[in-house]
Amino acid sequence: MSKTAKRPYVVGNWKMHGLLSSLPAILDIDRAAACYIGVDVALALPFTLINPAAITVEHTAIGGQNCHAAHEGAFTGDISGRMLADCGAHFVLLGHSERRLGCGEDSATVRAKMQATLDDGLSAILCVGESTEQRAAGLAETSVQEQLLASLPDGLTSIGSITIAYEPIWAIGTGRIPQPAEIAAMHGALRQTLRDRLGPQAAAIRLLYGGSVNDDNAEALLAIPDVDGLLVGNASLDPRRFRAVVRAAQQASLQAS
Ligand code: PGA
Repeated sequence: MSKTAKRPYVVGNWKMHGLLSSLPAILDIDRAAACYIGVDVALALPFTLINPAAITVEHTAIGGQNCHAAHEGAFTGDISGRMLADCGAHFVLLGHSERRLGCGEDSATVRAKMQATLDDGLSAILCVGESTEQRAAGLAETSVQEQLLASLPDGLTSIGSITIAYEPIWAIGTGRIPQPAEIAAMHGALRQTLRDRLGPQAAAIRLLYGGSVNDDNAEALLAIPDVDGLLVGNASLDPRRFRAVVRAAQQASLQAS
């Protein structure tokens, strides 16, 4: 399926940034979401901002950046998907490389978190991506396909609740992005993997690209086949730049229709 059949999805990942004083910036982004109605706009926020943002915005989906695989229990310092949903979150970003590498999360852990997230009625954005070494060795596609398969829960039924974000580790926060042909090849490989695992309904799953996305490169990235949206880190912290990314997605959807 071409990306033209799907609404573009633009997600800001604020990582460990933002205080309550950032709410005006979140409102600015929400105004962009209200203006560019052809785009689904979302913000993955730190825990402390989820509820204040969720009760403030009207057009932006608010989500978390991680959750525990259990619904509740003796897990000091952790948060469950159920708790995120309780305070207004709609989705959780899972398997980001900063958690896989920095917090030792392997794909089995990510899979358990995905299952819990979906059980709690939230959507999940699953991040996958290769290292510099894997790409240099010609193993980018196979390693990312393996990561995807190992991170997806068995017997997945809530296809409409999952999104996949391809984020090469070496592109995150570096200003380096893959060639368009490399992104197209990776998204095509991920689409095929999803189809093999989930059948024809996998065509409806949105595939996002992430890693050094900004207002200058968004338009070109959205023109790549099978790129259904963008996951934006640093540039999402500046409402003016994030708004421009959302506008690029709106234009891409208009051109496609
Ligand atoms: P970046 O981060 O846009 O700052 O590269 C993207 C991400 O880590 O999701």
